[in-house]
Amino acid sequence: MAKVESSSDNVMHDHEQPVKPRILLAASGSVAAIKFESLCRSFSEWAEVRAVSTKSSLHFLDEASLPRGVTLYTDDDEWSSWKKIGDGVLHIELRKWADIMVIAPLSANTLAKIAGGLCDNLLTCIVRAWDYSKPLYVAPAMNTFMWNNPLTKRHLEAIGELGITLIPSITKRLACGDYGNGAMAEPSVIYTTVRLAYKPSPVNGSG
Ligand SMILES: Cc1cc2nc3c(=O)[nH]c(=O)nc-3n(C[C@H](O)[C@H](O)[C@H](O)COP(=O)(O)O)c2cc1C
Repeated sequence: MAKVESSSDNVMHDHEQPVKPRILLAASGSVAAIKFESLCRSFSEWAEVRAVSTKSSLHFLDEASLPRGVTLYTDDDEWSSWKKIGDGVLHIELRKWADIMVIAPLSANTLAKIAGGLCDNLLTCIVRAWDYSKPLYVAPAMNTFMWNNPLTKRHLEAIGELGITLIPSITKRLACGDYGNGAMAEPSVIYTTVRLAYKPSPVNGSG
């Protein structure tokens, strides 16, 4: 596992090339995580990318296919990187490192956990510690029966109140064969949404 640099490294000095934005891409356990590699590839062309995955998402994504330079952090890294008091805590380090977080796909389960403030894995600990002066995007992906469940609306409203930006799901034939809303937005749409909204901070002058 690569070391996470401290946030103080994120400074542009005079006469230096502007630094790239730091994007934390996270995948949860939807079948749409098969598109995570493509998402990492798009963002890597513009930004510095770190990736986070839940245990369930590892059934759908292939770590070996991620672009070179993109480190994938899992729950195991959270615990293996901490041995004693004074060691960095991975979810806090990643939260400090990132300029922007994007959760794509966002499963119904992780949506519910975020809405309720639960934090029992690396991904949800990062979100629970998130600094809402920095953008956090989610792209939900779930079966249309889950999507239409009243809990989805309730949970989306709750995360909207926190300041999380929704990249809406789309209606199409889903991987399971059912037709309806709940499919993850296309990776190109997710990338474009984040990129167009990006405003460099005074210490991070990239565009
Ligand atoms: C084959 C398969 C596909 C699944 N697809 C989805 C999905 O698209 N969206 C979703 O919310 N859950 C889906 N699930 C259920 C989640 O994987 C499950 O709720 C899991 O606990 C999510 O964990 P996580 O949120 O920690 O990643 C799927 C499960 C299986 C077995």
